[in-house]
Amino acid sequence: MFFKQIQVGPMQNFSYIIGDENSREAAVVDAGWEIEKLIDIANKEKLKINKVLLTHSHYDHVQKVNELSEKTSAVVYFHELDSESINKSIKNSGIKIIKLKNNDEIKIGSLKIKVIHTPGHTPGAICLLVENKLLTGDTLFVNAIGRTDLAGGDAIKLFESLQKLKKLGDNVEVYPGHNYGEIQFSTIGREKKTNPYFKCSTKEQFLNLMGLI
Ligand SMILES: [Fe+2]
Repeated sequence: MFFKQIQVGPMQNFSYIIGDENSREAAVVDAGWEIEKLIDIANKEKLKINKVLLTHSHYDHVQKVNELSEKTSAVVYFHELDSESINKSIKNSGIKIIKLKNNDEIKIGSLKIKVIHTPGHTPGAICLLVENKLLTGDTLFVNAIGRTDLAGGDAIKLFESLQKLKKLGDNVEVYPGHNYGEIQFSTIGREKKTNPYFKCSTKEQFLNLMGLI
């Protein structure tokens, strides 16, 4: 598998390129900034971007999706519950979109990406699992979590989503949607030990730490 984390834009966002070494098909995860940089990397690697996967609807992850899809003819994938705001970023009606649900599987050549619905930061936030790598968007960061005070945010749902991620196993690598930590990627096991929010085992502890109770 070709897998690359790329920091883009002024808000420490990460985009990712996931490619299948045999078919040379690739997906870009999140398209907020600097899509030329992403296209250049794909071209150098002789990868053809034919899918764009969006972890959630916030503009710093989606605002370049129209342009990226027009330049590559990529199909755009996102969770159905984040459709309303993402649809506003897709101005060209010729762009094909596919709405996702929990447990859906996206294929990139022979690679399989599993969709895990993790609401809380937004209603349709998703994490994407490919081999032992989990792309967590703004659900889980290194030593932090996504905020829940923006439109559609829900702290209790985020707590429940984090419990779902804990079950994936300590060795699963965590690739967040922003470069907010002291390292650029982590593991579920490390976050269980060091991330104060991810450590919480009860809703009460969690809401308390969030300053909500
Ligand atoms: Fe966000």
